[in-house]
Amino acid sequence: MIRFDNVHKAFGDNEVLRGFTLDVNEGETMVIIGFSGTGKSVAIKHIVGLLEPDEGSVHVDGVEVGSLTRRELYALRTKIGYVFQFAALFDSLTIGENVAMGLRKQGLLDENAIHERVREALELVDLDLSVETKLPAELSGGMRKRVGIARAIALRPKYLLYDEPTTGLDPVTSAIIDDLMLRMQRQLGVTGIVITHDMRSAYTVGTRIAMLYEGTVRQVGTVDEIKQTTDPIVRQFIEGRAEPGPVDAPLAQAPATRAG
Ligand SMILES: Nc1ncnc2c1ncn2[C@@H]1O[C@H](COP(=O)(O)OP(=O)(O)OP(=O)(O)O)[C@@H](O)[C@H]1O
Ligand SMILES: [Mg+2]
Repeated sequence: MIRFDNVHKAFGDNEVLRGFTLDVNEGETMVIIGFSGTGKSVAIKHIVGLLEPDEGSVHVDGVEVGSLTRRELYALRTKIGYVFQFAALFDSLTIGENVAMGLRKQGLLDENAIHERVREALELVDLDLSVETKLPAELSGGMRKRVGIARAIALRPKYLLYDEPTTGLDPVTSAIIDDLMLRMQRQLGVTGIVITHDMRSAYTVGTRIAMLYEGTVRQVGTVDEIKQTTDPIVRQFIEGRAEPGPVDAPLAQAPATRAG
């Protein structure tokens, strides 16, 4: 469904992706973990054509993203909801207008139907409908983050890309976002990619987890496979240690699952 094949991407002499290969299957949620600055955001920007590989390819639904015309790329983007790492709302537009933006651009629904979709999306992310007429500056960071998600799901996309959806949120709000991502996958069959540093979230929402390290996938596996990894780098990351863990070190205790 989404396939990265030997993707290389450099900015000047900063070689960020160096043979990144990953398949995301239909209906699964792939979690991408990795240290800050390793290229997680760079990787998913290739899916929507915001970046093009220097070498290698990215396919979505069997079509190579880099080969699309502008119009075809635009059509592809309507299938993909992208929740940006930094909420990226338009400050001068109300929350309702921000959420409706993609729908208006699409031009398929009348104003009543758009309004209905906006309210539905806000409800899905647990925001009070009174936020609709507010400006982004009037909302907390966590609320803005949820608006970013509402904007992505309002289009009812086939794919959802979440770039650090729970970073900076309190644990309860994080749990609400995790539930929402699970519902998107289980009830709506959305194929997702979630970039996160939050291992609790990764274990909750992930079908599989891939660790990006030094430009390639260090390990990809199910949640259980990652929890039981003997790879010192992966273990260092998931346990949050300052140094890579020795292979024979005792396994980390799995984080407690969230109540409720
Ligand atoms: N448009 C760009 N131009 C130049 N360099 C870039 C650009 N985008 C990203 N980079 C560089 O690519 C590297 C990877 O950045 P990226 O944002 O993908 O990291 P990340 O893994 O998402 O990190 P974080 O966890 O902190 O969000 C960084 O060194 C960054 O400076
Ligand atoms: Mg990032």
